[in-house]
Amino acid sequence: MEQRQYRVGIIGATGMVGQRFALLLAEHPWFQVAALAASARSAGKTYGDLMKTRWMMNEPLPAGLRDIVVLDAVKDMNDVAAGVDFVFCAVDMKKEEIRALEEAYAKAECPVISNNSAFRGAADVPMIVPELNAAHSEVIPAQRKRLGTKRGFIAVKSNCSLQSYVPALFPLKGVEDVLVCTYQAISGASKTFETWPEMNDNVIPYIGGEEEKSELEPLKIYGKVTDGKIVNASLPRFTAQCIRVPVSDGHLAAVFCRFSEGQKPSKEEILDTWRSFKGTAQELELPSAPKRFLHYFEEDNMPQTKLQRDLEGGMAVSVGRLREDTQYDYKFVCLSHNTLRGAAGGAVLMAELLCAQGWITRF
Ligand SMILES: NC(=O)c1ccc[n+]([C@@H]2O[C@H](COP(=O)([O-])OP(=O)(O)OC[C@H]3O[C@@H](n4cnc5c(N)ncnc54)[C@H](OP(=O)(O)O)[C@@H]3O)[C@@H](O)[C@H]2O)c1
Repeated sequence: MEQRQYRVGIIGATGMVGQRFALLLAEHPWFQVAALAASARSAGKTYGDLMKTRWMMNEPLPAGLRDIVVLDAVKDMNDVAAGVDFVFCAVDMKKEEIRALEEAYAKAECPVISNNSAFRGAADVPMIVPELNAAHSEVIPAQRKRLGTKRGFIAVKSNCSLQSYVPALFPLKGVEDVLVCTYQAISGASKTFETWPEMNDNVIPYIGGEEEKSELEPLKIYGKVTDGKIVNASLPRFTAQCIRVPVSDGHLAAVFCRFSEGQKPSKEEILDTWRSFKGTAQELELPSAPKRFLHYFEEDNMPQTKLQRDLEGGMAVSVGRLREDTQYDYKFVCLSHNTLRGAAGGAVLMAELLCAQGWITRF
């Protein structure tokens, strides 16, 4: 593919996920940042000035983005949409405001790759993990018909918690019941230890709305496209508890699963399935795809959040501790980076897939 072929915008560029986008896109082989947008509070200032006190990443602010003047995502929508081939969107706004914003961009013929939850429940909006359900992009023509667009559409990233456990479960056939407890990083709440000191030496057993998303969203990923709609699967049944833990980045999940009668695989079969698993992202050799999606660790004390969250650029999922259970069939532990694979990185990979599939084209 031709270098730096697509011009992209980041809406919510000043936030936790937006900053991750800035880092990932500054060096991207296909995508060139052409617009940055945020709220009216940030509009009119350069990204470099705004980020002097707000930059939360360990890596330095990309020099090429420093002088870009941040636009107002709402008021300057036409300017943003006219200057890019598509936008990434990660904003902290009310659900109905996000719906209005994302639909306005799509109707301005600017595809939206969203990290927000507002459209995750819409049957003609694909929610894609490129290794698992790349074919769900087939609903885009139906969505374009509803919106009255030729190019514009919305595609969404799933919630970050399920990025740790669904990848390991999805390739296994016949899973019927899943119980999962997640141990989630504070960056998932857009915070650092400086901005959320209460999290030092603390655990908070509640993350608003997270358990519902963790139980429901996997069923869309497991769903099938029928007549221009994604019909959610009814199995596996998920039940979840989501806990905030004093970790900067990385969501870990403890999983218990039961297979339908006669379908329980051996431990070796599960390990073989994980070791050999490849998805469309690997087959197409997308630039942000990890070489191997699922990495199994044999050591009893792995995966560890701090040691494995950055595996393959934070895009791989780490799995360990697979063993038989006395009440379920098996239990194991999974880990993924919440702002990379779980947010900005997963969105960049989805955009690469949609470009490779021809759904996003150059204006
Ligand atoms: N953090 C994660 O791990 C994670 C993972 C998956 C999904 N997400 C989702 O990604 C989205 C953003 O999360 P975040 O953690 O990046 O939040 P954040 O750090 O609070 O950043 C929010 C962004 O939204 C912008 N914004 C707020 N009000 C706006 C308005 N009226 N118009 C335009 N822009 C506005 C802010 O701009 P200003 O700076 O100008 O206020 C900022 O750029 C949320 O929907 C979240 O659920 C987050």
